[in-house]
Amino acid sequence: MLNTSFEPVDFVLFGTAGDLARRKLLPSLYELEKADLMHADTKVIGVARTESTIAEYQQTVKDNIEKFTKESVCETTWARFCSKLDYVKIDMKSPEDYSGLSEHVNEDRIMVCYFATPPAIYGDICKGLSAAQIIDESVRVVLEKPIGHDLASSKLINEEVAEYFNENQIYRIDHYLGKETVLNLIALRFANSIFATNWDHNCIDHVQISVAESVGIEGRWGYFDDAGQMRDMVQNHLLQVLSLVAMEPPTTLDADSIRDEKLKVLKALRPINKTNYQQSTVRGQYIGGFVNGVEVPGYLDEPDANERSQTETFVAIKAHIDNWRWAGVPFYLRTGKRMPAKTSEVVIYFKRQPHNLFGDSFASLPPNKLVIRLQPDEGVEVTVMNKVPGLTTSGSMDLQKSNLNLSFSEAFQGERIPDAYEKLLLEVMLGNQALFVRRDEIEQAWSWVDSIIAAWNSSNEPPESYQAGTWGPVESIGLLAKEGRAWYQSKAVK
Ligand code: BG6
Repeated sequence: MLNTSFEPVDFVLFGTAGDLARRKLLPSLYELEKADLMHADTKVIGVARTESTIAEYQQTVKDNIEKFTKESVCETTWARFCSKLDYVKIDMKSPEDYSGLSEHVNEDRIMVCYFATPPAIYGDICKGLSAAQIIDESVRVVLEKPIGHDLASSKLINEEVAEYFNENQIYRIDHYLGKETVLNLIALRFANSIFATNWDHNCIDHVQISVAESVGIEGRWGYFDDAGQMRDMVQNHLLQVLSLVAMEPPTTLDADSIRDEKLKVLKALRPINKTNYQQSTVRGQYIGGFVNGVEVPGYLDEPDANERSQTETFVAIKAHIDNWRWAGVPFYLRTGKRMPAKTSEVVIYFKRQPHNLFGDSFASLPPNKLVIRLQPDEGVEVTVMNKVPGLTTSGSMDLQKSNLNLSFSEAFQGERIPDAYEKLLLEVMLGNQALFVRRDEIEQAWSWVDSIIAAWNSSNEPPESYQAGTWGPVESIGLLAKEGRAWYQSKAVK
């Protein structure tokens, strides 16, 4: 049994007027209310620097929920949720302003502080909470990404927060860990013996992890140009998915058992640096093109763009995990903006059969593939070879490749797939850290990523161009082709 409890909490949302709170966090809390997963006595206290009455705040929250869930609220659920909402005006950079918060929280209850603010003010919030004397060992803090820009800045942020909170109080969000299908990786691997025994270099040829987005940078030039796809997507989401695919079985499902195993994978990633980055990485930047038939500008023509930017909007990497299980098995990672579709998939390519008995039907037997669709059309698909039914006089056997497809929407009809934030907010309120990233994981991921970025920067070569609406630069195809492999063609593009 996991050590969690369903208790009322004071959920303090710093940055309640920001984009993340409005688009994701408040609608997710509302969905939890709808599903009866908010304790009746839980309170949600929004914090921002503008003056607002509680009634005005409640109305703004209601409007936002309608806007971002694209449906009208259910009045019964809303009445329950609305009664939980409270608001406090705080200038988050002024420690003396926090004293007002103590009147809104109850010291007998667990306080959850969600920092939905730029990381630059995490330290200020901690100081303010401390000045108001409302920190004790029961307080939980939730940190949003990006936690740093590199290892050094990540350590600074972590150290600032660690002055006030212990690691077991800190919940670092990577929203991919709240996605149902990412969690299903754990179920798939450890609840099915067919995948338990075949999950290593003896049976697997290589693994592909692709996270493609059709959107561009959505008006976030300032943030994105400083980060790039490597920091925005690889350092966190792709490396977390990779760790779950590659980790050893954890002893239990408790937080540290899982996180210990993920950390071992990150530590075993072979460094990519100046000596080998050219063989192992491709970075790209989109130029104008068409996505879903709509003309879109290139990265350098986006509003507010710096025309000389060399920031990557696409990354492909051939990674190796230097341990017993994965020796010689490449993990190809690929992620980009302005690709033909939004789709995230993990594809496991099994090894070919050592000898082909069916040469008359298939000159070369295709390898079995396990496709795990993280989004959209969440599900799992296995390709298998079957005999085509029927009688022949030739004595040979005709084979056909078929797909066994488990689509979640069909298999679990009527089950709503919750948003990742719903799952993660619930877990914070329950006090389960398993789906949150530990400090050593974040720092290990940064050190691997930093070395690649340093190699790119030292080369002074610009990123390769790719047309918006394509799967990235041709060099990314070459990364696999030179080893006789090809990227999986997602069925998300019809
Ligand atoms: C965020 C990135 O963490 O993840 C965004 O900052 C990206 O740039 C987003 O678009 C993708 O998340 P999802 O859940 O839509 O795949």
